[in-house]
Amino acid sequence: MPLYAERMRRIGTENAFKIGPHIVAVASRGTPVIKLNLGEPDFSAPPWVKEEICRQVARDNSHYCDPKGILSLRQAIARQINTTRGLSVTPDHVCVFPGGKPSIGFAQQIYCNPGDEIIYPSPGFPIYESFIRYIGAVPVPLHLDEQSNFTCAPEQLAALISPKTKLIILNFPSNPTGGVATHDQLSALAETILSRCAPDVRVYSDEIYENILFDGQPHLSIASMPGMEKITIISSGFSKSFAWTGGRVGYAVLPTVEEADAFKTMNINYFSCVPPYNQEGAREALENAQSGPWMAQMARTFETRRDAILAELNAIDGVSCQKPGGAFYLFPNIGGVCKRVGALDAYDDLPPETRRTTSPATLFQMFALYHHQVAVMDRRSFGAIGTDGLHYLRISIAADLETLQEGVRRLAAAGDDGEGFQRFMAQGEHLV
Ligand SMILES: Cc1ncc(COP(=O)(O)O)c(C=O)c1O
Repeated sequence: MPLYAERMRRIGTENAFKIGPHIVAVASRGTPVIKLNLGEPDFSAPPWVKEEICRQVARDNSHYCDPKGILSLRQAIARQINTTRGLSVTPDHVCVFPGGKPSIGFAQQIYCNPGDEIIYPSPGFPIYESFIRYIGAVPVPLHLDEQSNFTCAPEQLAALISPKTKLIILNFPSNPTGGVATHDQLSALAETILSRCAPDVRVYSDEIYENILFDGQPHLSIASMPGMEKITIISSGFSKSFAWTGGRVGYAVLPTVEEADAFKTMNINYFSCVPPYNQEGAREALENAQSGPWMAQMARTFETRRDAILAELNAIDGVSCQKPGGAFYLFPNIGGVCKRVGALDAYDDLPPETRRTTSPATLFQMFALYHHQVAVMDRRSFGAIGTDGLHYLRISIAADLETLQEGVRRLAAAGDDGEGFQRFMAQGEHLV
């Protein structure tokens, strides 16, 4: 009898957590690594949030609490959602989780039977794809392309909808591209979904980057489009908006109370509840009047970095990068660089079983890390299905400007270092 259940062969992972040991290995040779791989803001959580957590711990608020989330936090979330999305949800529609992530897998488990189809953005947050086969559902990637600045046209979505479609995942502003859909695009997507899908199909709208938007754009949610609140799950959290990834507080707002209670049942089965002192910190984050200006200032800092780095990236021969409208990532096309250093040919020469687990952009990513000490993420880390011939990197701008500029210089140097790339390939290590 095998040790592991068969389904374990079908689960994926988030490579952002896999690259850490490689960075440690490179840094231990004595050259510091420029880390542009990070998916968390390089800020500290606001002092009023930290003070509230300390106050709550001091008053011993560290016992089991409501598995759906403490009422005061759910009330604050409902108020915030109603104000920003023009909806009328109640605290009973809200369920709180340890971060934005758990509700992705929970939604797949709650709504989908084996064989059901899940449409999700690619490139997209890796957990969308990694969980689908684990629960026996069928992954249907919605490929977002560079020409539309990584948004999508309703026809692209329409072409993927079938009678088996059960869940449609959307994410604007997007990780890893920073793509933001316009009002017209969201409205057209909503019309497509409402006209083509059965009423029990759900849209999981991941809005975790809702407060990191550039160029004066407001956050728009597909849940605000007519008819959509009945079928949309809004997911968000405190990791990105408040630079508080370790706090592990996120939430989903469900179309019905019954569905929110189904998510609560998952909470009870997996972890009972989210630490109450952190939930009070999250409530304070939403209620404190200083939070709005604080988030706006963080977003302005990311916007300044975006503008500075975009030009420098686009100046590299073989790189073209779109201007992201939000989040804190740039997603350059590095097809020209892969060709220049020989990564396309090197990939073609690999044995088929290695080719299945890597890509030219992955080879360049690992080469840049091991030979030029700069860490970034590759295209495959954001959905691997159907990505042959797509050569991109994700560059996180969650680092100060000087670090970012040095990182871009190192990427440019890696792109010019064809000989070094040949040596890297000849060593035959770290190819995946
Ligand atoms: C699009 C997206 N959704 C969800 C998450 C998960 O956030 P959390 O750390 O709060 O679980 C992330 C984190 O990177 C993300 O980028």
